[in-house]
Amino acid sequence: MKTLLPPKNGRDYRTLAIETSCDETSAAVLKNGREILSNVISSQIDVHKKFGGVVPEVASRKHIENINIVIQEALDEAEITMDQIDHIGVTYGPGLVGALLVGLSAAKAMAYALDIPLIGVNHIEGHICANYIAHPDLKPPFLCLIVSGGHTYLAHVNDYGEYEMMGKTRDDAVGEAFDKVARALGLGYPGGPLIDKIAKEGNPEAVDFPRVYLEPDTFDFSMSGLKSAVLNYLNSQKQRGASIRVEDVAASFQQAVIEVLVNKTLHAARKKEAHTIVLAGGVAANSALRMQLEREGKKEGIAVKYPPLILCTDNAAMIGCAAYYRYQQGKVSDLYLNAIPDLKLG
Ligand code: KG4
Ligand code: ZN
Repeated sequence: MKTLLPPKNGRDYRTLAIETSCDETSAAVLKNGREILSNVISSQIDVHKKFGGVVPEVASRKHIENINIVIQEALDEAEITMDQIDHIGVTYGPGLVGALLVGLSAAKAMAYALDIPLIGVNHIEGHICANYIAHPDLKPPFLCLIVSGGHTYLAHVNDYGEYEMMGKTRDDAVGEAFDKVARALGLGYPGGPLIDKIAKEGNPEAVDFPRVYLEPDTFDFSMSGLKSAVLNYLNSQKQRGASIRVEDVAASFQQAVIEVLVNKTLHAARKKEAHTIVLAGGVAANSALRMQLEREGKKEGIAVKYPPLILCTDNAAMIGCAAYYRYQQGKVSDLYLNAIPDLKLG
Protein backbone atom coordinates (compact mmCIF):
# COMPACT_ATOMS: atom_id res chain seq x y z
CA MET A 1 0.00 0.00 0.00
CA LYS A 2 1.30 3.47 -0.88
CA THR A 3 1.91 5.98 1.89
CA LEU A 4 -0.42 8.94 1.55
CA LEU A 5 0.69 12.45 2.38
CA PRO A 6 -0.51 13.86 5.72
CA PRO A 7 -2.63 17.04 5.62
CA LYS A 8 -0.29 19.83 4.52
CA ASN A 9 1.34 21.81 7.34
CA GLY A 10 -1.23 20.43 9.73
CA ARG A 11 -3.96 22.17 7.73
CA ASP A 12 -6.79 20.35 5.98
CA TYR A 13 -6.87 19.88 2.22
CA ARG A 14 -9.91 21.35 0.51
CA THR A 15 -10.84 19.91 -2.87
CA LEU A 16 -13.30 21.61 -5.21
CA ALA A 17 -14.83 19.06 -7.59
CA ILE A 18 -16.86 19.49 -10.76
CA GLU A 19 -18.94 16.85 -12.58
CA THR A 20 -20.83 17.45 -15.85
CA SER A 21 -20.46 14.17 -17.76
CA CYS A 22 -24.16 13.57 -18.43
CA ASP A 23 -27.31 15.27 -17.17
CA GLU A 24 -26.36 16.47 -13.67
CA THR A 25 -24.43 19.70 -13.12
CA SER A 26 -22.66 19.15 -9.83
CA ALA A 27 -19.98 20.83 -7.69
CA ALA A 28 -18.71 19.76 -4.29
CA VAL A 29 -16.17 20.71 -1.65
CA LEU A 30 -14.40 17.96 0.31
CA LYS A 31 -12.17 18.08 3.36
CA ASN A 32 -9.19 15.69 3.25
CA GLY A 33 -10.81 13.68 0.45
CA ARG A 34 -13.47 11.84 2.40
CA GLU A 35 -15.54 14.42 4.26
CA ILE A 36 -18.25 16.26 2.32
CA LEU A 37 -18.53 19.99 3.09
CA SER A 38 -20.99 20.50 0.22
CA ASN A 39 -22.35 18.46 -2.70
CA VAL A 40 -24.67 20.51 -4.92
CA ILE A 41 -26.44 18.57 -7.69
CA SER A 42 -28.59 20.33 -10.27
CA SER A 43 -30.48 17.62 -12.13
CA GLN A 44 -31.75 18.05 -15.68
CA ILE A 45 -34.06 15.01 -15.51
CA ASP A 46 -37.22 17.10 -15.94
CA VAL A 47 -35.79 18.71 -19.10
CA HIS A 48 -34.88 15.35 -20.73
CA LYS A 49 -37.92 13.39 -19.51
CA LYS A 50 -40.13 14.54 -22.36
CA PHE A 51 -37.61 13.16 -24.89
CA GLY A 52 -37.41 9.77 -23.12
CA GLY A 53 -33.64 10.09 -22.59
CA VAL A 54 -30.74 12.55 -22.43
CA VAL A 55 -30.43 14.88 -25.46
CA PRO A 56 -26.67 15.72 -25.61
CA GLU A 57 -26.99 19.22 -27.10
CA VAL A 58 -29.66 20.20 -24.56
CA ALA A 59 -27.49 18.80 -21.74
CA SER A 60 -24.50 20.96 -22.79
CA ARG A 61 -26.62 24.12 -22.90
CA LYS A 62 -28.12 23.43 -19.48
CA HIS A 63 -24.64 22.83 -18.01
CA ILE A 64 -23.51 26.22 -19.37
CA GLU A 65 -26.51 27.91 -17.74
CA ASN A 66 -25.96 26.18 -14.39
CA ILE A 67 -22.25 25.67 -13.89
CA ASN A 68 -21.24 28.98 -12.29
CA ILE A 69 -24.31 29.05 -10.05
CA VAL A 70 -23.69 25.48 -8.86
CA ILE A 71 -19.98 26.13 -8.13
CA GLN A 72 -20.82 29.27 -6.15
CA GLU A 73 -23.48 27.38 -4.19
CA ALA A 74 -20.98 24.62 -3.36
CA LEU A 75 -18.48 27.19 -2.04
CA ASP A 76 -21.16 29.02 -0.05
CA GLU A 77 -22.51 25.82 1.51
CA ALA A 78 -18.97 24.75 2.46
CA GLU A 79 -18.46 28.26 3.90
CA ILE A 80 -15.20 28.80 2.04
CA THR A 81 -13.97 31.30 -0.51
CA MET A 82 -12.15 30.51 -3.75
CA ASP A 83 -8.73 31.30 -2.30
CA GLN A 84 -9.18 28.56 0.31
CA ILE A 85 -9.37 25.78 -2.32
CA ASP A 86 -6.19 23.68 -2.56
CA HIS A 87 -6.88 21.91 -5.85
CA ILE A 88 -9.65 21.24 -8.38
CA GLY A 89 -10.84 17.83 -9.53
CA VAL A 90 -12.92 17.51 -12.69
CA THR A 91 -14.44 14.68 -14.72
CA TYR A 92 -12.77 14.47 -18.16
CA GLY A 93 -14.43 11.23 -19.32
CA PRO A 94 -16.21 9.03 -20.09
CA GLY A 95 -19.36 10.94 -20.95
CA LEU A 96 -20.97 13.27 -23.48
CA VAL A 97 -18.23 15.36 -25.05
CA GLY A 98 -20.11 18.69 -25.03
CA ALA A 99 -21.25 18.16 -21.45
CA LEU A 100 -17.74 17.21 -20.26
CA LEU A 101 -16.23 20.30 -21.93
CA VAL A 102 -18.41 22.66 -19.87
CA GLY A 103 -17.10 21.31 -16.56
CA LEU A 104 -13.56 21.07 -17.88
CA SER A 105 -13.53 24.67 -19.10
CA ALA A 106 -14.80 25.95 -15.76
CA ALA A 107 -12.24 23.86 -13.83
CA LYS A 108 -9.34 24.92 -16.07
CA ALA A 109 -10.28 28.60 -15.84
CA MET A 110 -10.40 28.43 -12.05
CA ALA A 111 -7.17 26.41 -11.73
CA TYR A 112 -5.38 28.95 -13.96
CA ALA A 113 -6.80 32.03 -12.24
CA LEU A 114 -6.16 30.68 -8.73
CA ASP A 115 -2.84 29.05 -9.69
CA ILE A 116 -3.73 25.72 -8.09
CA PRO A 117 -3.40 22.12 -9.36
CA LEU A 118 -5.96 20.67 -11.76
CA ILE A 119 -6.71 16.94 -11.47
CA GLY A 120 -8.57 15.12 -14.25
CA VAL A 121 -10.78 12.32 -12.93
CA ASN A 122 -12.24 9.25 -14.64
CA HIS A 123 -15.98 9.28 -13.93
CA ILE A 124 -16.04 5.51 -13.29
CA GLU A 125 -13.25 5.84 -10.72
CA GLY A 126 -15.40 8.52 -9.11
CA HIS A 127 -18.29 6.05 -8.72
CA ILE A 128 -15.98 3.61 -6.92
CA CYS A 129 -14.64 6.40 -4.65
CA ALA A 130 -18.20 7.29 -3.53
CA ASN A 131 -17.72 4.29 -1.23
CA TYR A 132 -14.65 5.83 0.47
CA ILE A 133 -16.85 8.76 1.46
CA ALA A 134 -19.68 6.53 2.66
CA HIS A 135 -17.46 4.09 4.58
CA PRO A 136 -14.62 5.90 6.40
CA ASP A 137 -12.83 2.61 7.21
CA LEU A 138 -12.96 1.20 3.67
CA LYS A 139 -9.51 0.58 2.19
CA PRO A 140 -8.30 -1.43 -0.82
CA PRO A 141 -8.10 -4.28 -1.65
CA PHE A 142 -11.72 -5.12 -2.46
CA LEU A 143 -13.83 -6.35 -5.35
CA CYS A 144 -16.07 -3.78 -7.02
CA LEU A 145 -19.16 -4.20 -9.20
CA ILE A 146 -19.73 -0.97 -11.12
CA VAL A 147 -23.20 -0.74 -12.66
CA SER A 148 -24.35 2.55 -14.14
CA GLY A 149 -26.28 3.92 -17.11
CA GLY A 150 -23.25 3.77 -19.38
CA HIS A 151 -20.91 1.19 -17.80
CA THR A 152 -20.79 -2.29 -16.31
CA TYR A 153 -17.50 -3.54 -14.88
CA LEU A 154 -16.24 -6.07 -12.40
CA ALA A 155 -12.90 -4.81 -11.10
CA HIS A 156 -10.52 -5.77 -8.33
CA VAL A 157 -9.28 -2.63 -6.59
CA ASN A 158 -5.71 -3.56 -5.65
CA ASP A 159 -4.85 -0.15 -4.19
CA TYR A 160 -6.03 3.46 -4.42
CA GLY A 161 -6.19 4.15 -8.16
CA GLU A 162 -5.08 0.62 -9.16
CA TYR A 163 -7.74 -1.41 -10.91
CA GLU A 164 -7.53 -4.93 -12.25
CA MET A 165 -10.36 -5.31 -14.74
CA MET A 166 -12.04 -8.72 -14.52
CA GLY A 167 -15.15 -8.29 -16.66
CA LYS A 168 -17.31 -5.81 -18.54
CA THR A 169 -20.51 -5.74 -20.56
CA ARG A 170 -20.24 -6.86 -24.16
CA ASP A 171 -23.27 -4.80 -25.22
CA ASP A 172 -25.69 -2.71 -23.11
CA ALA A 173 -24.80 -1.40 -19.66
CA VAL A 174 -27.06 -2.62 -16.86
CA GLY A 175 -28.64 0.81 -16.30
CA GLU A 176 -29.21 1.14 -20.04
CA ALA A 177 -31.11 -2.19 -20.02
CA PHE A 178 -33.27 -0.96 -17.11
CA ASP A 179 -33.99 2.28 -19.00
CA LYS A 180 -34.87 0.49 -22.27
CA VAL A 181 -37.13 -2.08 -20.61
CA ALA A 182 -38.85 0.68 -18.60
CA ARG A 183 -39.53 2.54 -21.85
CA ALA A 184 -41.01 -0.62 -23.43
CA LEU A 185 -43.23 -1.00 -20.36
CA GLY A 186 -44.35 2.65 -20.67
CA LEU A 187 -42.92 3.56 -17.28
CA GLY A 188 -40.93 6.68 -18.26
CA TYR A 189 -37.38 7.97 -17.73
CA PRO A 190 -35.04 7.25 -16.00
CA GLY A 191 -36.28 3.69 -15.89
CA GLY A 192 -34.11 2.15 -13.16
CA PRO A 193 -35.80 3.72 -10.13
CA LEU A 194 -39.25 3.18 -11.68
CA ILE A 195 -38.63 -0.55 -12.28
CA ASP A 196 -37.15 -0.86 -8.78
CA LYS A 197 -40.35 0.63 -7.31
CA ILE A 198 -42.95 -1.20 -9.38
CA ALA A 199 -41.11 -4.54 -9.11
CA LYS A 200 -41.89 -4.51 -5.38
CA GLU A 201 -45.57 -5.14 -6.33
CA GLY A 202 -44.73 -7.92 -8.82
CA ASN A 203 -43.82 -11.61 -8.84
CA PRO A 204 -40.17 -12.14 -9.87
CA GLU A 205 -40.99 -15.69 -11.00
CA ALA A 206 -43.99 -14.74 -13.16
CA VAL A 207 -42.04 -14.74 -16.45
CA ASP A 208 -39.06 -17.02 -16.97
CA PHE A 209 -36.58 -14.63 -18.65
CA PRO A 210 -33.11 -16.00 -19.60
CA ARG A 211 -30.13 -15.77 -17.21
CA VAL A 212 -27.23 -14.88 -19.53
CA TYR A 213 -23.90 -16.19 -18.15
CA LEU A 214 -21.89 -16.44 -21.43
CA GLU A 215 -18.87 -18.82 -21.28
CA PRO A 216 -18.32 -20.64 -17.95
CA ASP A 217 -15.18 -18.75 -16.89
CA THR A 218 -15.87 -15.28 -18.16
CA PHE A 219 -16.73 -12.37 -15.88
CA ASP A 220 -18.18 -10.44 -18.83
CA PHE A 221 -21.86 -9.59 -19.00
CA SER A 222 -24.43 -9.37 -21.79
CA MET A 223 -27.75 -7.55 -21.44
CA SER A 224 -29.06 -7.34 -25.00
CA GLY A 225 -30.47 -10.90 -25.15
CA LEU A 226 -32.47 -10.35 -21.98
CA LYS A 227 -33.71 -6.98 -23.25
CA SER A 228 -34.85 -8.65 -26.51
CA ALA A 229 -36.54 -11.44 -24.53
CA VAL A 230 -38.60 -8.82 -22.65
CA LEU A 231 -39.57 -7.05 -25.89
CA ASN A 232 -40.48 -10.39 -27.55
CA TYR A 233 -42.59 -11.38 -24.55
CA LEU A 234 -44.47 -8.05 -24.65
CA ASN A 235 -45.08 -8.36 -28.41
CA SER A 236 -46.26 -11.96 -28.26
CA GLN A 237 -48.64 -11.19 -25.37
CA LYS A 238 -50.08 -8.27 -27.36
CA GLN A 239 -50.47 -10.39 -30.51
CA ARG A 240 -52.28 -13.10 -28.59
CA GLY A 241 -54.49 -10.51 -26.95
CA ALA A 242 -53.22 -11.73 -23.57
CA SER A 243 -52.95 -9.34 -20.64
CA ILE A 244 -49.63 -7.94 -19.44
CA ARG A 245 -49.01 -7.36 -15.75
CA VAL A 246 -46.34 -4.64 -15.80
CA GLU A 247 -45.38 -5.27 -12.16
CA ASP A 248 -44.66 -8.95 -12.93
CA VAL A 249 -42.65 -8.21 -16.08
CA ALA A 250 -40.60 -5.57 -14.21
CA ALA A 251 -39.94 -7.90 -11.26
CA SER A 252 -39.05 -10.86 -13.53
CA PHE A 253 -36.69 -8.76 -15.67
CA GLN A 254 -35.03 -7.25 -12.59
CA GLN A 255 -34.58 -10.70 -11.03
CA ALA A 256 -32.97 -12.07 -14.23
CA VAL A 257 -30.44 -9.20 -14.14
CA ILE A 258 -29.72 -9.43 -10.42
CA GLU A 259 -29.21 -13.20 -10.30
CA VAL A 260 -26.45 -12.99 -12.91
CA LEU A 261 -24.83 -9.93 -11.30
CA VAL A 262 -24.82 -11.54 -7.85
CA ASN A 263 -23.56 -14.96 -9.01
CA LYS A 264 -20.78 -13.56 -11.17
CA THR A 265 -19.69 -11.11 -8.48
CA LEU A 266 -19.52 -13.84 -5.83
CA HIS A 267 -17.63 -16.10 -8.23
CA ALA A 268 -15.09 -13.29 -8.81
CA ALA A 269 -14.83 -12.64 -5.05
CA ARG A 270 -14.05 -16.32 -4.43
CA LYS A 271 -11.43 -16.30 -7.17
CA LYS A 272 -9.70 -13.21 -5.71
CA GLU A 273 -10.27 -14.36 -2.12
CA ALA A 274 -11.88 -10.97 -1.48
CA HIS A 275 -13.39 -10.27 1.93
CA THR A 276 -15.26 -7.17 0.79
CA ILE A 277 -17.51 -6.48 -2.21
CA VAL A 278 -18.34 -2.88 -3.04
CA LEU A 279 -21.23 -1.78 -5.27
CA ALA A 280 -20.92 1.42 -7.31
CA GLY A 281 -22.81 3.41 -9.98
CA GLY A 282 -26.43 4.45 -10.45
CA VAL A 283 -27.78 0.87 -10.41
CA ALA A 284 -26.14 0.37 -6.98
CA ALA A 285 -29.23 2.28 -5.82
CA ASN A 286 -31.39 -0.73 -6.72
CA SER A 287 -32.97 -2.04 -3.52
CA ALA A 288 -33.27 -5.68 -4.65
CA LEU A 289 -29.65 -5.79 -5.88
CA ARG A 290 -28.36 -4.37 -2.59
CA MET A 291 -30.45 -6.78 -0.54
CA GLN A 292 -29.64 -9.94 -2.54
CA LEU A 293 -25.91 -9.26 -2.85
CA GLU A 294 -25.71 -8.51 0.87
CA ARG A 295 -27.66 -11.69 1.74
CA GLU A 296 -25.60 -13.97 -0.52
CA GLY A 297 -22.31 -12.34 0.54
CA LYS A 298 -23.15 -12.91 4.20
CA LYS A 299 -23.54 -16.67 3.57
CA GLU A 300 -19.87 -16.73 2.52
CA GLY A 301 -18.57 -14.30 5.14
CA ILE A 302 -18.08 -11.52 2.59
CA ALA A 303 -19.00 -7.96 3.61
CA VAL A 304 -21.04 -6.02 1.04
CA LYS A 305 -20.88 -2.23 1.00
CA TYR A 306 -22.65 0.41 -1.10
CA PRO A 307 -23.08 4.19 -0.95
CA PRO A 308 -26.25 6.00 0.20
CA LEU A 309 -28.63 6.73 -2.70
CA ILE A 310 -27.42 10.31 -3.23
CA LEU A 311 -23.83 9.10 -3.78
CA CYS A 312 -24.85 6.23 -6.13
CA THR A 313 -25.97 8.43 -9.01
CA ASP A 314 -23.83 11.17 -10.54
CA ASN A 315 -22.45 13.75 -8.11
CA ALA A 316 -19.29 15.82 -7.73
CA ALA A 317 -18.37 14.62 -4.22
CA MET A 318 -17.28 11.23 -5.60
CA ILE A 319 -15.12 13.06 -8.18
CA GLY A 320 -13.55 15.12 -5.39
CA CYS A 321 -12.62 11.98 -3.45
CA ALA A 322 -10.99 10.41 -6.53
CA ALA A 323 -9.16 13.69 -7.22
CA TYR A 324 -7.79 13.80 -3.66
CA TYR A 325 -6.23 10.33 -3.95
CA ARG A 326 -4.84 11.11 -7.42
CA TYR A 327 -3.30 14.30 -6.02
CA GLN A 328 -1.73 12.39 -3.14
CA GLN A 329 -0.09 10.14 -5.72
CA GLY A 330 1.21 13.10 -7.76
CA LYS A 331 -1.21 12.48 -10.66
CA VAL A 332 -1.82 16.12 -11.55
CA SER A 333 -3.05 17.24 -15.00
CA ASP A 334 -1.99 20.25 -17.06
CA LEU A 335 -4.19 22.88 -18.68
CA TYR A 336 -4.17 20.93 -21.97
CA LEU A 337 -6.44 18.33 -20.35
CA ASN A 338 -9.17 17.45 -22.87
CA ALA A 339 -12.47 15.57 -22.71
CA ILE A 340 -12.23 11.85 -23.56
CA PRO A 341 -15.80 10.63 -24.19
CA ASP A 342 -14.82 6.92 -24.29
CA LEU A 343 -12.22 6.99 -21.49
CA LYS A 344 -11.66 3.50 -20.03
CA LEU A 345 -10.86 2.48 -16.48
CA GLY A 346 -7.64 0.62 -15.72
O1 KG4 B 1 -24.24 6.39 -12.50
P1 KG4 B 1 -25.37 7.07 -13.15
O2 KG4 B 1 -26.04 8.20 -12.42
O3 KG4 B 1 -24.97 7.61 -14.56
C1 KG4 B 1 -23.97 7.04 -15.34
O4 KG4 B 1 -22.77 7.22 -15.04
O5 KG4 B 1 -24.37 6.32 -16.31
O6 KG4 B 1 -26.43 5.93 -13.46
C2 KG4 B 1 -27.67 6.20 -14.02
C3 KG4 B 1 -28.36 4.87 -14.25
C4 KG4 B 1 -29.64 4.98 -15.07
O7 KG4 B 1 -29.63 4.01 -16.09
C5 KG4 B 1 -30.72 4.69 -14.03
O8 KG4 B 1 -31.88 4.10 -14.59
C6 KG4 B 1 -30.01 3.74 -13.09
O9 KG4 B 1 -28.70 4.26 -12.99
N1 KG4 B 1 -30.62 3.66 -11.76
C7 KG4 B 1 -31.19 2.54 -11.26
C8 KG4 B 1 -31.74 2.89 -10.00
N2 KG4 B 1 -31.46 4.22 -9.76
C9 KG4 B 1 -30.77 4.67 -10.86
N3 KG4 B 1 -31.31 1.31 -11.78
C10 KG4 B 1 -31.95 0.38 -11.05
N4 KG4 B 1 -32.53 0.64 -9.84
C11 KG4 B 1 -32.43 1.87 -9.28
N5 KG4 B 1 -32.98 2.12 -8.10
ZN1 ZN C 1 -22.23 7.96 -13.48
